Amino acid sequence: MARILVTSALPYINGIKHLGNLIGSMLPADAYARYCRARGHEVLLICATDEHGTPAELAAAKAGQPVADYCAEMWAVQKRLGEGFRLSFDFFGRSSSARNHQLTQHLAGRLAEAGLIEERAEKQVYSQADGRFLPDRYIEGTCPECGYARARGDQCENCTKQLDPTDLIEPRSVISGSTDLEVRETRHLYLKQSAMRERLNAWIDAQADWPLLTTSIARKWLNEGDGLRDRGITRDLDWGIPVRRGSEDWPGMAGKVFYVWFDAPIEYIAATAEWADAQGLGDEAWQRWWREDLGAHDVRYVQFMAKDNVPFHTLSFPVTLMGANFDGAEPWKLVDYIKGFNWLTYEGGKFSTSQGRGVFMDQALDILPSDYWRWWLLANAPEGSDSDFTWAAFQGGVNKDLADVLGNFVSRVTKFCRAKFGEAVPEGGEYGEAEAAVTAEIARRTKAYEDHWEAMEIRKAAAELRAIWAAGNEYLQAAAPWVTIKQDPGRAAASIRMGLNLIRLYAILSRPFVPDASDAMLAALGVEGDAEAWPGDIGEALSALPAGHGFTVPSNLFAKISDDAREEMEARFAGENG
Ligand code: MF3
Ligand code: ZN
Repeated sequence: MARILVTSALPYINGIKHLGNLIGSMLPADAYARYCRARGHEVLLICATDEHGTPAELAAAKAGQPVADYCAEMWAVQKRLGEGFRLSFDFFGRSSSARNHQLTQHLAGRLAEAGLIEERAEKQVYSQADGRFLPDRYIEGTCPECGYARARGDQCENCTKQLDPTDLIEPRSVISGSTDLEVRETRHLYLKQSAMRERLNAWIDAQADWPLLTTSIARKWLNEGDGLRDRGITRDLDWGIPVRRGSEDWPGMAGKVFYVWFDAPIEYIAATAEWADAQGLGDEAWQRWWREDLGAHDVRYVQFMAKDNVPFHTLSFPVTLMGANFDGAEPWKLVDYIKGFNWLTYEGGKFSTSQGRGVFMDQALDILPSDYWRWWLLANAPEGSDSDFTWAAFQGGVNKDLADVLGNFVSRVTKFCRAKFGEAVPEGGEYGEAEAAVTAEIARRTKAYEDHWEAMEIRKAAAELRAIWAAGNEYLQAAAPWVTIKQDPGRAAASIRMGLNLIRLYAILSRPFVPDASDAMLAALGVEGDAEAWPGDIGEALSALPAGHGFTVPSNLFAKISDDAREEMEARFAGENG
């Protein structure tokens, strides 16, 4: 048994997330955490809303609300939607929490002690029309690296380059659209990331098992051009964590706040402290996950995120944590494995919040139960490359995999048993060659399924699970208890006993993907307590339900999506621009 810390990139507070955001970090983090729990590991799954910075301020302004009120409301909405998708967070925190204020100020103080923070006079873009500075997302323009026309002042989402507002070509205000901009001087704190280049390089070199998607992005910014240039970590904004040096004022920094990308990853730690507080536990309860000297030396820490987040997690956040340990007094836990994702597209284009294009988490749950979405998104996760959500593909996946294969199997076995033997596992007959064959196949496939999960190859894990379901269907088709019942009822009883045991096994194996269906199967079989009884020996697992064990026929696990329903969704979600 191991201890595994899992974090999902923190969703911005600025609105309800779409399916692309969901599959980019939160959903795979949940599925992996569920798998690890089922294997008996001690797991802590942490997420939170990312509440500071320009995205939050812009969204609150648009909603006509004070930013603090807006954030409190949107946090509750996002928490509820996460629950709707059965995201099994141990804690869903807020980056605006008191814990994060305190920890961010503390770490900034440590970095200053380490000599890694420098105050600089810098030139920031000031908008005459708006009467304010325009940091980060308050400004848009053309990316100097790749020419993308809608690059933001903090990062180009096309090529992932981290930017400063003054880097943009033909900049304009996001608030007013004004191009009447001037550059004014203001003083800010800079984190001397470049001083850590060698340590970072050595650290990335040591991560031989990281996926190429992650290491290639990290190396690109580490070693090419100015990817690791010193970054401003403060901003001229009202909403955020006030710049303080530990618990003391920071001379010259009154009225400024930390940059959102400085405090957001620190919330992974702070949210763990919030979790401990909420449990009524002391500091040691969160420190044993985060401090190498206080118990975290044997924790395996896995982060899930979309690829645009990789530079911040491979460079900036490690600089914060390594830098804060300059004297060896605070050995913070660094990430052991980063699982990065490409983009999910929508019908060949981008999901777009502003154009209402694509499917958002609240809408998805209004249309169909969460398992349908979970299955399709995880089975088609944008792992090796981008993947495309289409209603046709979604309909196909739901109808074929869930309804025709898993749902149909459960329904045929339980209904046939009820009709011919009654609502208990039938007696008589014995497992023979056909049962030995399907047992061997499922044992082999379960091993492969486990290996894919260990490697965090989610699409491959889904494909293997689908094959495990299909093996049961093929077995049942060949065993044909509806035929054998006439001449050899014992044979038919053995086939159905195997079928009912397969349902129990499917409930356990499928749980990371379709937790509600898993619950329904376990409840129908009256073995709710077996949810995390991961099979050791498959032969034993397939004899777990003895003859005479009662069950009920569950209501249909999955309904098919009709062509009419699919067409209606396609039209409804095409967005303003078709
Ligand atoms: N809110 C960011 C995004 O959606 C992710 C922040 S991850 C964190 O891209 F660790 F920095 F919080
Ligand atoms: Zn670019």
